[in-house]
Amino acid sequence: MTSTMSSSISSSLLAVVGGGNMGTALIAGLLAGGVSAESIVVVEIDEDKRNAAAKQFGVRTSESIVSCDGAIVAVKPQTVVDVCLELRQVGVKRVVSIAAGISLATLEHALGSEIAVMRAMPNTPALVTEGVTGLAFSTKCSPSDMDWAESILSAVGLVVRVPEEQIDAVTAVAGSGPGYLFLIAEALIDAGVTQGLSQDVAQKLVRQLFRGSGILLAQSPETASMLRQRVTSPNGTTAAGLAVLENAQIRQIIDQAVAAAAARSRQMGA
Ligand SMILES: NC(=O)c1ccc[n+]([C@@H]2O[C@H](COP(=O)([O-])OP(=O)(O)OC[C@H]3O[C@@H](n4cnc5c(N)ncnc54)[C@H](OP(=O)(O)O)[C@@H]3O)[C@@H](O)[C@H]2O)c1
Repeated sequence: MTSTMSSSISSSLLAVVGGGNMGTALIAGLLAGGVSAESIVVVEIDEDKRNAAAKQFGVRTSESIVSCDGAIVAVKPQTVVDVCLELRQVGVKRVVSIAAGISLATLEHALGSEIAVMRAMPNTPALVTEGVTGLAFSTKCSPSDMDWAESILSAVGLVVRVPEEQIDAVTAVAGSGPGYLFLIAEALIDAGVTQGLSQDVAQKLVRQLFRGSGILLAQSPETASMLRQRVTSPNGTTAAGLAVLENAQIRQIIDQAVAAAAARSRQMGA
């Protein structure tokens, strides 16, 4: 986060509504990025979580909505509209919701037409500040509203701006993506054990394999396809393994999995 962005958040009061997994990940990222603890208030109904946030982050906490300039809504989807109605009462100017399946139209309906409304879809690597978030804006949002929301969400990883109609696709690829990768990790660990490795060694190999390959893919100027070709010598070991995956139609299977997740996301939104 740039110092201009952290100072723009620090100069106003940000309410993080919902001090659960995502809410606390965002607060940790914001504080690490230089936002001051005095500029954040955590609104959380659970007393234990309020106390934990105050102790861990040194931020103000409240059981109910307080007057604030902007808010991140990080409660479960079924609670979002009630929270937005309360935020409207306190005159909030900007709201970002990270709730799955709650549309900009629903948010705007609850918040009123004067408020800049944004909808984000983060993923769980946000918990280690390596998330990726798709961010969509209502037509009321100004460039400074957009920068404000992006500066908050970039505290926990990369932010990609998308039109709202692409949020289901973002959910299917990146929101659900960690689940697909963890499944492959599980299968690789099991396969390593089948080949004679201990559970402990297989775990170590696969955890570091994902970390190293992820960093290589993120940092390399080469495409995933080029990186794959580089590790695949003709007639070599990788070629033997990949041939099995290609013959089993792995690409089509992944395409079907993402299509199913996108369809489910659209259904949940409706
Ligand atoms: N986790 C993910 O990977 C992920 C990814 C993308 C989007 N999201 C979205 O992020 C949102 C939060 O997810 P999460 O995993 O962080 O959930 P979570 O851990 O359950 O956190 C939500 C917190 O909000 C509290 N809460 C409920 N009603 C409230 C209210 N009226 N005012 C203040 N606090 C209230 C809950 O307390 P109680 O537990 O007492 O109800 C809970 O502590 C969800 O809408 C989800 O769709 C999550």
